[in-house]
Amino acid sequence: MSEQKNSFLEWIDKRFPMTATWRAHLSEYYAPKNFNFWYFFGSLALLVLVNQLITGIFLTMSYKPDSSLAFASVEYIMRDVDYGWLIRYMHSTGASMFFVVVYLHMFRGMIYGSYRKPRELLWLIGMAIFFVLMSLAFTGYILPWGQMSYWGAQVIVSMFEAIPFIGETLHNWILGDYMLSDAALNRFFAYHVVTLPVLIVVLVFVHVIALHEVGSNNPDGIEIKENKNPETKIPVDGIPFHPYYTVKDIFGVIGFLIVFCGIIFFAPEMGGYFLEYNNFIPANMLQTPDHIAPVWYFTPYYSMLRAVTVNFLGVDAKLWGVILMVAGVAIFCFLPWLDRSPVKSIRYKGPIFKTFLTLFVISFFVLGWLGTQPPTPFYTLLAQIFSVVYFAFFILMPIYSKIDKTKPEPKRVTK
Ligand code: HEM
Repeated sequence: MSEQKNSFLEWIDKRFPMTATWRAHLSEYYAPKNFNFWYFFGSLALLVLVNQLITGIFLTMSYKPDSSLAFASVEYIMRDVDYGWLIRYMHSTGASMFFVVVYLHMFRGMIYGSYRKPRELLWLIGMAIFFVLMSLAFTGYILPWGQMSYWGAQVIVSMFEAIPFIGETLHNWILGDYMLSDAALNRFFAYHVVTLPVLIVVLVFVHVIALHEVGSNNPDGIEIKENKNPETKIPVDGIPFHPYYTVKDIFGVIGFLIVFCGIIFFAPEMGGYFLEYNNFIPANMLQTPDHIAPVWYFTPYYSMLRAVTVNFLGVDAKLWGVILMVAGVAIFCFLPWLDRSPVKSIRYKGPIFKTFLTLFVISFFVLGWLGTQPPTPFYTLLAQIFSVVYFAFFILMPIYSKIDKTKPEPKRVTK
């Protein structure tokens, strides 16, 4: 039997580099031996991606991308399709959990300096994934054609109108109509089920290839490739990804699935955070809901959009809001060049970095919460203050990362 297997493998290997790929990317890919909890989120992001692709295919089988049928087709999936409720909740919970996992994955990169040389391109590819992920979530949220789908999309799409000169034309071009209608629903459906999933799968593939080219960072932020055994040429602090990390990742997957199933079976709406109550009302273009708020993962940026209330430098407040919101996401792309610290990991960084990072995290949560609330003058003031704190983390980084008091990095990885 095993001889048969070997000859079959040989047959394949002569035609496709199966064993070589397995070795290069798994059994002989040497990862630092000190990965911790924070290193679960890459593989978990892959798991959620697969969940979204599979449940998405099944949803597409019964969903109708037609503005007069879409809402009812989702209700049909929930009530009449066998296990339709489960498939839909797996997909809607998966969308939110995708952001939970990706935000934690990015945060890991921030605390351990994984964006620094030689991983700048890896980070930028990650950012491209993040932009596509946001577009995927946005286009997906429109599909049930509920009140929040309609009015949330209206808010976002109307941002394009703020662009000088071409705004209105661009807005109509994106919608294929003068208003949000069936034409837009159809094209957003096409982006959501074909264009963007293909793009994200390609980008994730490129992301992993880029990671394996430079090698993984680790909680100590030191390069294990710089200390190799002279005979074996294997990093002395490296262990084969398979079986060590494949097994470790299974542990992370089990922990994740417990939380994931807990949400699906006991709180699929998550108190209106994962599925908003207003989205259980069919879209009505003649009735604006009292309070429009996007899903939680967009709310920090939504707060920035609403934080600008005055026109200045001859530019309309609305356009400034859009600029601030886009900048709030795009600014992560510059991290590799903003950080001038001599060390990568938070373990060896000084108190100023730790203070700024803590303030950044607080501002992210406060902005996130404010984005779910109706804007009062006090809340708007808070959004302005915390937007400044958020941006200060990035803009002042070239200064504080240089003057901060760091500790020396160890020669070998610690625990
Ligand atoms: C669909 C989304 C994503 C998937 C499936 C994914 C997958 C992965 C995987 C499997 C790893 C290796 C395991 C690990 O280090 O946790 C990894 C590493 C990494 N990813 Fe992602 N990723 C995604 C999004 C992102 C985003 C949005 C960013 C940042 C903007 C990013 C930046 C990085 C970096 C810097 C590393 C190397 C970390 C280190 O070695 O310390 N990734 N990613």
